Amino acid sequence: MPSSFLVRLAAVSLVCALAVAADVKTLKSLVEECRFSINDYRFDLCPLFESAEALKQIITSQAVTPPTVTKIVYQLSLNGPLSRSEKLPDHEQCPDGTWFCMTTINRRTEPYESEDPRILQVVPIVFDAPDSSAASSEGFGVVAGLGKSDGKTHPTLLVRLTGGQYVNKPQRALLVFRCNHKSEEPTQPTYSWSWNGTHAFDWTTKYACGHARGADTAPGSPHDPGIPPGEDQDLIGTLPERHWITKHSLTTILLCAA
Ligand SMILES: *[C@@H]1O[C@H](CO)[C@@H](O)[C@H](O)[C@H]1NC(C)=O
Repeated sequence: MPSSFLVRLAAVSLVCALAVAADVKTLKSLVEECRFSINDYRFDLCPLFESAEALKQIITSQAVTPPTVTKIVYQLSLNGPLSRSEKLPDHEQCPDGTWFCMTTINRRTEPYESEDPRILQVVPIVFDAPDSSAASSEGFGVVAGLGKSDGKTHPTLLVRLTGGQYVNKPQRALLVFRCNHKSEEPTQPTYSWSWNGTHAFDWTTKYACGHARGADTAPGSPHDPGIPPGEDQDLIGTLPERHWITKHSLTTILLCAA
């Protein structure tokens, strides 16, 4: 441990700025730059985006909210802005430049089921049109980083997409790619949680099994599902920000600041 720390210290002081930059990777989009490396891990997500259908994902969930039922629809476009609907009025859909949009729809239950549903919220989450009132101060961006890893299982791959704003509050999406060697492709993302303007989605796929550079085998055996028990709970219960600081990057930041 002490000797590896010294080696790291030496390496870090040489390439301090580079090392910081390597902990996260800025991408043009997930589709345009679907092959990339972060630290020692190489990812190739390109097979996920091969079909046209895979580039546009619609994820719906429904909550019983007596005396009504509330449906939440997430529209995700991974390679550019969503196309707008000609059937809906402008104010009932996300503005031009929106990549990820959340719509909340509510309807009354019996005996009012025949009534038209009401659109309660239209939230641009990922947005790329700087001069619009829907743009957040954060601005559009796609940034990938690694989640925590115990060294035996694959780290999760975290992709944060930003740029939207709703009632003066910045919105962003967090895609959590999890490795499962046995996943049957094509796989789709599922809704995970949303909190304080962050909307998180899980995407379990074999393409998230990042390969360590210079090693023939990635952590875990081929039968390892890659999802440590309880990690889900942990991720949901904590702030996404925490996962952006791995032990390595923290060391680097501390050393670089010194
Ligand atoms: C919630 O989001 C706002 C706006 O992005 C931010 O200023 C605030 O720090 C966040 N709250 C917490 C507890 O993270």
